[in-house]
Amino acid sequence: MDGNGRWAASRSLPRLEGHRRGAERLIEIVDACVDLGISTLTVFAFSAENWKRPADEISGLFKLGEWILRAHLSRLERRNVKLRVIGDLKAMPDFVRLPLQDAILASAKNTGLTLVVALNYGARQETLQAVQAMVQKAAEGKLNAAEINWASFAEHLETKGLPDPDLIIRTSGEHRLSNFLLLQSAYAEIVFASVHWPDFTKEQLHLALAEYAKRERRFGQTPEQLQTPPTP
Ligand code: FPP
Repeated sequence: MDGNGRWAASRSLPRLEGHRRGAERLIEIVDACVDLGISTLTVFAFSAENWKRPADEISGLFKLGEWILRAHLSRLERRNVKLRVIGDLKAMPDFVRLPLQDAILASAKNTGLTLVVALNYGARQETLQAVQAMVQKAAEGKLNAAEINWASFAEHLETKGLPDPDLIIRTSGEHRLSNFLLLQSAYAEIVFASVHWPDFTKEQLHLALAEYAKRERRFGQTPEQLQTPPTP
């Protein structure tokens, strides 16, 4: 959800106003994903590197996070959305962490869109934690190094049980992944939108999906192989 700060600066507004408008846009995009029947939407709300920001911006963001959750909790239920978080929640203040944990529990039985909020998340940190957990298991004799494969490794990532992203949308004209789902995005299509996140309307989402639909996903195969049905 990149570009909130620049959206605000270009209107001579405080950065937090950009985040507030970004949060409102998030509600619209979640609704649009539900309407489209999308199975999983992951939003990068706060990166492990965002702690470097000024303290008042960080606390403003957390207050906004708490507000958006409280104001739209019933919507999760109404729209059958299951909430999940990836990232290190332990470092989050109680006023954000506790309602989030409650909402995750309350929405666990929902069967529609899975909304994954990446909070205090970083792909490198996630990878190192997975390696540490696996090394620990190996040291305890519970894991045989020779049997490690992608599937067993992925079980140790925070995204365990979630599908890999098919499409990653980066807003605000930036062309990088910024430590977001680096391993899971190995075969993701990436669409770069030039608009800042507060201007990323559901029409923009539809445009990104139309662009995705034009892509040929080969997963290492040749175009000819994709035409040939696999032999039984
Ligand atoms: C990136 O824009 C956006 C963020 C770091 C925050 C996104 C969060 C929300 C939209 C609200 C939900 C909040 C929580 C905590 C659940 P930027 O500030 O990097 O914009 P810039 O690159 O233009 O400065």
